[in-house]
Amino acid sequence: MKTPLIVSACVTSSGHTRSVRRPLTTLGIACSLGLVLFLALPTYDVTFSDAPGVMNPSMLAPKSPVCSNEFFRKFITEHHRYPDAIKWNANYTDFSPLLCHVQSQNIEQCMKRKNIQRIAVYGASQARRYGLQLAETLKKIGFVCNKKKEEKRKPIHRIDLDYFAAGNKTLRSLMVAGSDYICSGCSSYQITCTAKDINRDVVNIEFISTENVNTTKLVVINSTFPPTYEHFIFDIYLQKSFPDLNIFFVPMNHIKRQPIERFVREFPVTLLPLVKKVKPPTSDFFFIPGTSEFEERRKAHATDYKNRLWYGLLATDAIRKLNVELLSILESDIINGKVSSFLDLAEITASLSHLCQDGSHFDDQWYFTFWKVFLNVYCHEG
Ligand SMILES: *[C@@H]1O[C@H](CO)[C@@H](O)[C@H](O)[C@H]1NC(C)=O
Ligand SMILES: *[C@@H]1O[C@H](CO)[C@@H](O)[C@H](O)[C@H]1NC(C)=O
Ligand SMILES: *[C@@H]1O[C@H](CO)[C@@H](O)[C@H](O)[C@H]1NC(C)=O
Ligand SMILES: *[C@@H]1O[C@H](CO)[C@@H](O)[C@H](O)[C@H]1NC(C)=O
Repeated sequence: MKTPLIVSACVTSSGHTRSVRRPLTTLGIACSLGLVLFLALPTYDVTFSDAPGVMNPSMLAPKSPVCSNEFFRKFITEHHRYPDAIKWNANYTDFSPLLCHVQSQNIEQCMKRKNIQRIAVYGASQARRYGLQLAETLKKIGFVCNKKKEEKRKPIHRIDLDYFAAGNKTLRSLMVAGSDYICSGCSSYQITCTAKDINRDVVNIEFISTENVNTTKLVVINSTFPPTYEHFIFDIYLQKSFPDLNIFFVPMNHIKRQPIERFVREFPVTLLPLVKKVKPPTSDFFFIPGTSEFEERRKAHATDYKNRLWYGLLATDAIRKLNVELLSILESDIINGKVSSFLDLAEITASLSHLCQDGSHFDDQWYFTFWKVFLNVYCHEG
């Protein structure tokens, strides 16, 4: 059953219902590479469900290695790309790369073992949803979660200075709102989760709204730091207590509005060195690629966006290109363990048109599934 599996994987990653057209040569190389890798590996027994290109990850023979950050790091070191051949289960509540299998972990014990008390989620409206579903994930495993604080933007596109001053009057007097947000549905918030068991462990989640990599949403005057929002966040706001686990959902839906060259020029000299400078060695920092968009799912009032070209590329093609650029910028820092990444989410979400609400955002199910797989991978030791 080896050959049909590969054929199916290649068909899945090339066509489906989305509007991506990758050159056939790339596809050919990817497919033959997949075939070579596949044949070189221990045998998998894959049982197909009715839907094409779909299988249950738990059906993978346990001989394949367990998916872990270390496995992904090694893969990137050797192949200079994300392990992008993945499979979904029949109802799209679980996925797994083909080359490894995701093993269920005890997330509460993992948080304790890794001493995770603060988790920060960065990004725009997608990250706002990821943050909420992270809280839902913790609720499922026995935490009680409550929203403690939220940005009150007035007007909605302008940053809430009081939220970020956090009661420091001196700091507040030096803060100035800069450029507006495009995103109105992405006010920052904090959620506190407390374990219901006897230990009452607390995990604080904060979503920190971030639309790009070098912005002026908020600047501090008379500061020795460069006048950008990102410097404010990392050098001042988080300085006293840097989060233990940081997941930065690089907001490609926004970044694609500018030429790709701008991201390629700015990210390696602004946000990336800043994060490397401020991150304590004990904190983990993930940069996560962007998800696919779906032209056929755009709402009637969003007709300006339907099939719109962003510097010559459809939204998903631009995001895929940005994701490739992101990895090539991060590669050496992933290899030396300074920062981490995960999987190419444009590839993973390419088959989720039916879960897409408006062309770019998904039903909660996607964001929840992301955390299930991400945390199981993150928590695997050894
Ligand atoms: C999806 O399928 C799995 C088994 O493959 C099942 O445990 C789960 O409840 C299903 N979820 C939904 C939302 O139907
Ligand atoms: C308030 O902010 C100022 C300016 O960033 C800083 O020097 C000071 O330490 C802060 N005070 C407190 C109590 O955090
Ligand atoms: C900023 O610094 C200048 C020069 O050091 C000083 O005159 C000014 O009062 C400072 N402004 C604030 C708001 O502290
Ligand atoms: C980053 O933003 C700041 C503030 O707008 C600007 O001065 C600086 O030139 C930007 N850096 C790059 C590399 O574009």
